[in-house]
Amino acid sequence: GTTRRYKFHIKYQNITRLCTTKTILTVNGKFPGPPIVAREGDRVVVKVVNHVRNNVTIHWHGVRQLRSGWYDGPAYITQCPIQTGQTYVYNFTITNQIGTLLWHAHLSWLRATLYGPIIILPRRNDSYPFPKPYKEIPIILGDWFNADPLAVIAQALQTGAPPNVSDAHTINGLPGFLYNCSSKSKDTFKLKVKPGKTYLLRVINAALNDNLYFSIANHTLTAVNVDANYIKPFETDTILITPGQTTNLLLKTKPHFPNATFLIAARPFFVGLATIDNSTTVALLEYKPKHSNTTNKTNPLPLFSPSLPSINDTNFAFNFTNGLKSLGSSNFPTNVPQKVDKRFFFTIGQGTSPCPLNQTCQGPTNTTKFSASINNVSDSLPTTAMLQAHYFGRPNGVYTTDFPENPLDPFNYTGAPPNNTNVSNGTKVVVLRFNTSVEFVLQDTSILGAESHPLHLHGHDFFVVGQGVGNYDPSRDPAKFNLVDPVQRNTLAVPAGGWAAIRFLADNPGVWFMHCHFDVHASWGLAMTWIVLDGELPNQKLPPPPPDLPRC
Ligand code: C2O
Repeated sequence: GTTRRYKFHIKYQNITRLCTTKTILTVNGKFPGPPIVAREGDRVVVKVVNHVRNNVTIHWHGVRQLRSGWYDGPAYITQCPIQTGQTYVYNFTITNQIGTLLWHAHLSWLRATLYGPIIILPRRNDSYPFPKPYKEIPIILGDWFNADPLAVIAQALQTGAPPNVSDAHTINGLPGFLYNCSSKSKDTFKLKVKPGKTYLLRVINAALNDNLYFSIANHTLTAVNVDANYIKPFETDTILITPGQTTNLLLKTKPHFPNATFLIAARPFFVGLATIDNSTTVALLEYKPKHSNTTNKTNPLPLFSPSLPSINDTNFAFNFTNGLKSLGSSNFPTNVPQKVDKRFFFTIGQGTSPCPLNQTCQGPTNTTKFSASINNVSDSLPTTAMLQAHYFGRPNGVYTTDFPENPLDPFNYTGAPPNNTNVSNGTKVVVLRFNTSVEFVLQDTSILGAESHPLHLHGHDFFVVGQGVGNYDPSRDPAKFNLVDPVQRNTLAVPAGGWAAIRFLADNPGVWFMHCHFDVHASWGLAMTWIVLDGELPNQKLPPPPPDLPRC
């Protein structure tokens, strides 16, 4: 492979959306940020220079980082933040991954404006397992906050109340014309296509807190790849995509100029009690006629709109998620671990924790604040990087290795509240020996209401071998696991009020964060950390840290 070099200057830029001009943090002045483009097997070297007052880190979401965990990027997990004036050079190789991923800041809510696509093409002489598309286009779904997103979460954490929601969703940084104060010409992304062609849309959900439906009026979409893994072609009118997920779609345009324009729309899928930004962002699919006199400027073309599923359509969500299967061809085999060395059962969800004494909280009651947890542990980030502490054998005061393998207090997880709201704070890890084959069940709980959480694992892809609604039943459900062609990905939507079972091989030594990719839930502690130990052989060990690794 070749080496692809990039410079990311973190700097301020004035951006106007919804009639609000704000100074936001950007990479190189761009919003969304610039794409990283590489071929499978290439080395990617990104020099990140911090020109702003905030500390920052960049995470290459979904990149396996095999034996390069120093470059993964989550603040206080694998590195200390890059401080004002400092530089850190990320340096990693793309191994066995083809498709779309994303990069984003990984500190507090900085990723609200610091994000961009990672486009991974096949090796030079390799091809896609489908005919080569005419053109490839990234479609990044995101948000716009009129307020400063860092202030939004800081205030929420201080009061114990839920944070304010975003003011708009965006497509390639633009909210679309359905919002007050936005126009068709300036604020709406236009996807210009020719008739009779196949386009590859690289759809990324970079929104902070919303699972999104995505659809294009009067066009069928064929999903062919998720999270940089090929899947069996899956035809649908609408996809569901959680924060942190990516989906490559083939879009076949109409054979002839259709005398119409088509709306592209995204809006949330949500089940739960919280207030969310349920607004719709749109873009336009515009056909270019062969002869431009076919369009009549004074008499605009009719505009067709897609019909998206209703906001809480759990059946659609379950069937869509269940419908995605690994491609499993001879070139792209599915290597599901067939045996399991270690099993875990994790309850996930929102709950409450006690309001500190002498403070009035604005949680569900004035003596509680919102928090979130895995197995009753609400994760707190340490003030130094866990990977350094692990590598140099100094975990004391940074983390403990007693993360519970099962919930501390089993209860009827999907039954009616009140129930197990007991949460303790901690920085606890699970330690795995190199090459451990792991199976874990993520069980959603309805302590404050069932919800579909997007869980993301760093440093590994995993197989989703099963999912169901209600409480997981260890005596019956494993018999139904798909160990043949389960989808492989790095972020999954755990069914609302249900469970999902995952398998992965812990073959990447390092310290790996796993968390809800709703930033509000991660901020409330819905996170945990895995440590994968070095193996015996030299090529099974994490190399030492680079000299420019930031210090806390
Ligand atoms: Cu995309 Cu830890 O996140």
